[in-house]
Amino acid sequence: MTGTTEKKVILSGIQPTNKLTLGNYLGAIKQWVRIQNDYDAYFMAVDQHAITARQDPAQLRKNTLFSVACYIAAGIDPERCVLFIQSQVHQHSQLAWTLNCFGYMGELSRMIQFKEKSAKSGSNIPVGLFTYPLLMAADILLYDTALVPVGDDQTQHVELTRDIAERMNGIYGPDTFVIPKAHIPKVAARVMDLLTPTSKMSKSAVNENGSIFISDSAADIERKFKRATTDSETVIAFDTENKPGVSNLLSIQSAITSESLEEVIARYEGKQYGHLKLETAQIVIKELIPIQQRAQELVDEKTELNRILKMGAERASEHAERTIKRIHERIGYVVI
Ligand code: AMP
Ligand code: TRP
Repeated sequence: MTGTTEKKVILSGIQPTNKLTLGNYLGAIKQWVRIQNDYDAYFMAVDQHAITARQDPAQLRKNTLFSVACYIAAGIDPERCVLFIQSQVHQHSQLAWTLNCFGYMGELSRMIQFKEKSAKSGSNIPVGLFTYPLLMAADILLYDTALVPVGDDQTQHVELTRDIAERMNGIYGPDTFVIPKAHIPKVAARVMDLLTPTSKMSKSAVNENGSIFISDSAADIERKFKRATTDSETVIAFDTENKPGVSNLLSIQSAITSESLEEVIARYEGKQYGHLKLETAQIVIKELIPIQQRAQELVDEKTELNRILKMGAERASEHAERTIKRIHERIGYVVI
């Protein structure tokens, strides 16, 4: 019942709300590229998750296409991995409904992300914001996923997925679902906001100058790094508690160049914050500009991207349909 190959299944996705950031790139996409060959890998743009907050249709479409183009431009091999857009594989919503009947109000109410986001939604909280972890559980369980590479803010959702899968395995048999595990990358697990280095760099930051977007121009990247918040000292050292800004720049460099933090720090002996900021900007520019150019070409050219997405949706759908059949048989639906 596991995938078509002997490799374990790994699956992840990013919401195409707004533009992807350097945090998404270093914390997610670059990690996916690194591990794609070791697994049976599924990567997607989760547009159905994005609509838990109101989206402009043209913008959502644009962000979705640009984000999958970025995955490819960053090195995800669409021939080897299954690369797709969530809404193009209808089995996600289909399994989500079934999981809605096995997830409990109590456990969903405990989701930190729900508490945070609903607090910002005013009095009209979309039901989808509440049940969203069950759509995420469906994303994961559809493909017999063993490992889910996500940031630490998503581990609670993966835990919930495990709980529900175990609950259903208890009812319908131990091989109903593969029990997934979160996989947290070691390096650059958290890229911090450049202006407020005590919070995570986010797609939806209030001040866009604190976030580097993959689509930023070289001039914007340089300007944002030059203005990055540091501290009142002059020593370049890694100390997230007392020097969060400087530490963030050091770990961004280390995540891109694959040098250890010690090696990066050694390069800055006797140098000033200005050097660190400018050189971090240059390293980021060198990494992101070719990716953003290739992604834009793929979006503009269309044919190749459409071919890839169609192939990805078909391959995803094939696996997802096998799972749906299995689950429907066990639930007692009539399967023909
Ligand atoms: P989000 O942008 O919050 O939807 O996150 C999508 C994925 O990108 C997460 O699972 C994280 O792995 C990664 N990610 C987002 N922001 C950051 C960040 N500031 N630092 C590291 N990883 C991040
Ligand atoms: N909820 C995740 C986030 O906001 C995105 C996501 C949706 C996801 N489905 C997934 C991540 C499945 C991993 C696996 O970041």
